[in-house]
Amino acid sequence: MDTVLQVKDLTKLYRRRRAEPVVAVDRVSFSVSKNEVVGLLGPNGAGKTTTIKCIAGLIKPTSGEIWLDGIDAIRRPGKAMERVAALLEGNRNIYWRLTPRENLEFFAGIQGHPVGRVRGYIDELIELFDLKDKERTSARMLSRGMQQKLALACALVRQTEVLLLDEPTLGLDVETSYELRHILKQMGARGERTILLSSHDMHVVQDICERVVIINNGRVVVDDRVRSLMKLFRASAYRFELEGQLAEELALTLRGRFPLLALSATDHRTYIDADLKDGNELYEVLDILKGGNTQIKSIGHKEPNLEEIFLTIVKGQLK
Ligand SMILES: Nc1ncnc2c1ncn2[C@@H]1O[C@H](COP(=O)(O)OP(=O)(O)O)[C@@H](O)[C@H]1O
Ligand SMILES: [Mg+2]
Repeated sequence: MDTVLQVKDLTKLYRRRRAEPVVAVDRVSFSVSKNEVVGLLGPNGAGKTTTIKCIAGLIKPTSGEIWLDGIDAIRRPGKAMERVAALLEGNRNIYWRLTPRENLEFFAGIQGHPVGRVRGYIDELIELFDLKDKERTSARMLSRGMQQKLALACALVRQTEVLLLDEPTLGLDVETSYELRHILKQMGARGERTILLSSHDMHVVQDICERVVIINNGRVVVDDRVRSLMKLFRASAYRFELEGQLAEELALTLRGRFPLLALSATDHRTYIDADLKDGNELYEVLDILKGGNTQIKSIGHKEPNLEEIFLTIVKGQLK
């Protein structure tokens, strides 16, 4: 597959007065193929914005390499930046005094697309982002959600090889956030854009991206397809359903052996959720449960979600 974006051992230190420098990004490597939609997921402070700003040429990395469409982005930033459009966190990079259409024409223009040739695409974007009613309104009069949609449309209209989106749904109302997710998901499904999207919200990534690079404390901890990540965790996430209440000593024994196991109960049932590595661990749980007089009603695989997967990985890192 064609690699369009390659990040190699990217490191960024922020220097501070009278204090140790902050290592915001620490030898991060990953690549994105043509028409792939990849999520950069991590908690606040993980290094997502710094990574994206380095790729977008807005800050200079301390060390490492960035290749965009075969061009060395650190040595030849001007040439590389023609291939990237970025939507940065909280920064709606649009012209307040221009209308949505004028903004779109402007951004198409700076990319070198003659207005006559992009008119059809601009009409399509205005339609897609539901900006038709606001065609004669200047951008500063639009709602925050509309401005964010327009900013994304302005990034799209440039039709660059790579699109970088830093927290594109942060701070939006539920409806606009849903709308943007829907548009991005469709774009991804049609396989027509190469997108690197950062978010601290796993639901956004799970919804839109096919692959995810998880970063924590400036380092890559996982780089995998969202689907295989879910499958991997599905295989090990078990849920036991027991008749009645679990005796206190059994609960203690279980917790002693499997510290991350979760117990919950209703009046007539007890549920045990546990990540078990293999059949042996499953038998160990069954053995412990046999010691009491509780009856096992069912054992099933629990459906994992990206949030739990993410927390398990990040927790595992702290050990
Ligand atoms: N300009 C800066 N000066 C000093 N430290 C910074 C600066 N920008 C970010 N940081 C620090 O770098 C780390 C990564 O930040 P950032 O890339 O914004 O993470 P994220 O986008 O994942 O929340 C954090 O510890 C943050 O406090
Ligand atoms: Mg950020």
